[in-house]
Amino acid sequence: MADPAVGRPLAGRHVVVTSGPTREAIDPVRYISNHSSGKQGHAIARAAAAAGARVTLVTGPVALADPVGVATVHVESARDMLAAVEAALPADVAVFAAAVADWRVAEIAGGKLKKGAGGPPSLSFVENPDILATVAKKTAGRPGLVVGFAAETEAVVDNARAKLARKGCDLIVANDVSSGTDTFGGDMNRVHIVDAAGVETWERQSKDAVAEALVSLLARRIAS
Ligand code: CTP
Ligand code: CA
Repeated sequence: MADPAVGRPLAGRHVVVTSGPTREAIDPVRYISNHSSGKQGHAIARAAAAAGARVTLVTGPVALADPVGVATVHVESARDMLAAVEAALPADVAVFAAAVADWRVAEIAGGKLKKGAGGPPSLSFVENPDILATVAKKTAGRPGLVVGFAAETEAVVDNARAKLARKGCDLIVANDVSSGTDTFGGDMNRVHIVDAAGVETWERQSKDAVAEALVSLLARRIAS
């Protein structure tokens, strides 16, 4: 008789995935964000659901449909994303694919900033909470497997190694987002899988294929 666990290696597991950019308000009509399309994070959520997991996807604003069979939570800012992730825990696996804005403006203007004699406004910034590091460094209720991404324009693997250590996660999926690569917004991705044991480079493939390969790697790790 066929073993039903074979095709659904994440059955009974809860997987939390972050995806897309965050949006940090300047005033009621303006914001700061980045080029993340959410394609890779959403593909991971779909692949985890297909592997039998219960999936919570916490996503910033993207032009993608909510994946079928995935509990999708829509957020805007980094602080909202952190709160939604905390609310979604506990989880067996957490994958942080979102391109979280590193900074937000120190004070969001209550009304629309207007042009005027004073010239352009100067904005001052404060750092956003690091969602991945917050979850990876939990002493109680840490997911069994915490996975980060690293978007790098140079020294991709070295920077990913440094991030692995600094953030306390189990694995980093590193991709090259320097000009000339088509990762941001595209359907293809070439990634390096970096963990304490070393580095594995996967051939350029579709983001769906990266998602499926990553989910099967995570399923094997969480089972052992
Ligand atoms: N991340 C996060 N919260 C943040 C910033 C980043 O959860 N405030 C997560 C991302 O989702 C990703 C990982 O941390 O999984 C690495 O993001 P990245 O931007 O590459 O690293 P940073 O630590 O922000 O460093 P820098 O941007 O300076 O390279
Ligand atoms: Ca960053």
